[in-house]
Amino acid sequence: MVSLNSLAKGAGLLYFGTAVDNPSLSNSAYTAIAFNSSEFGQITPANGQKWDSVEPSQNTFNYANGDAITTKAQAAGQILRCHNLVWYNQLPSWVSGGSWTTSTLQSVITTHITNEVTHYKGKCYAWDVVNEALDDSGNYRTDVFYNILGTSYIPFAFNAAAAADPSAKLYYNDYNIEYAGAKLTAAINIVKGIQSAGVKIDGVGLQGHFIVGSTPSKASLISALQSFTALGVEVAYTELDVRQSSVPASASAQQQQATDYVTVVSACLSVKDCVGVTVWDFDDQYSWVPSTFSGSGEADLWSSNLVKKPAYTSIASFLKSAATAPGATATSSLTTAASTITTSVTTAPSITSAPATTAAVGTIGHWNQCGGQGFASAGACASPYTCSTINTYYAQCL
Ligand code: G3I
Repeated sequence: MVSLNSLAKGAGLLYFGTAVDNPSLSNSAYTAIAFNSSEFGQITPANGQKWDSVEPSQNTFNYANGDAITTKAQAAGQILRCHNLVWYNQLPSWVSGGSWTTSTLQSVITTHITNEVTHYKGKCYAWDVVNEALDDSGNYRTDVFYNILGTSYIPFAFNAAAAADPSAKLYYNDYNIEYAGAKLTAAINIVKGIQSAGVKIDGVGLQGHFIVGSTPSKASLISALQSFTALGVEVAYTELDVRQSSVPASASAQQQQATDYVTVVSACLSVKDCVGVTVWDFDDQYSWVPSTFSGSGEADLWSSNLVKKPAYTSIASFLKSAATAPGATATSSLTTAASTITTSVTTAPSITSAPATTAAVGTIGHWNQCGGQGFASAGACASPYTCSTINTYYAQCL
């Protein structure tokens, strides 16, 4: 049975993942796909870890929605991307409308991040620490964080997250930074600013909310990815979907959608240190698109009655060919460990070399999962890589 995550790993990615939201947990046909680690090796809670869900009133923390998803993902042996800590949206009014000084708002941010990151400590492969700090023109959003703290809130938040879970990879996450423009330039400057503040940043999440027929070219996507990896951080497509401008989509529009999805996956495979692709999410029934873009929709890989679309088949075929082609693209391109910028104010993520699982045969390639709670061993790391424990749930050939 060909499934996306299995094929993506065979092509050299760390994972192929999906967002999952709480309302869909009651749909057993949906959850059978979502929590099948052959199909999806990584899960992102779509809403349950956001500030309004976790800390709806000051110092009152509620992890029920986030945990409902993360516990299922852990049981299935799936990697977690955790989303998100500081964002202007889905921010409770006690934060956005508060009368803060520099020190009181810093205290609010520290409390929120420390509590939430500690709750999930050891479980998150990555955290989206700051989400969408930039507006559509590439200027800083004038939200409560920026208005009180200026741009300093960004390294401040990363520093708090690093202190609470030194092993989690810390990402900046945004949309419309997948191609050249003022917003990409501004996002590059955010990464540089965090680094020059001496604070740890490990990755940039490019959300990847695209439109059928208007998806950037592969060359453009690759160029943007490389502008981040050149700074020493890893990258991932974190919220990929490709929406139809009018629905129901014709057969040719579905074929174009398939082409667009493959373009994005192919760009990731082509770039060293692009670790994975996450769709947001996989079934049209639970897509955020129709309620945000009236008349648009059908953005996902499965239809709302859970039938796979041409986009699914095309991605699967592409990944299969990437894995079997001589000198497969991604396995050969992902040759270095994810970069970690260690600093004077944070502790470097600890990657120890104690294998979580071992086997006699050296079959698992660089970057692939080799152990962790719930992982069924498939062999040992190929020479010269070592099975390195990232956290309780994840070990990787590094
Ligand atoms: O929780 C309330 C519920 O109490 C109320 O009854 C209901 C009535 O509408 O609304 C519920 O809140 C909704 C929330 O999702 C949780 O389901 C909001 O209305 C709705 O706007 C919100 O939408 C989410 C959106 O972020 C908000 O911006 C989407 O589900 C979620 O998929 C989407 O995800 C974002 C990423 O986090 C960041 N990047 C863009 C992406 C798409 O917008």
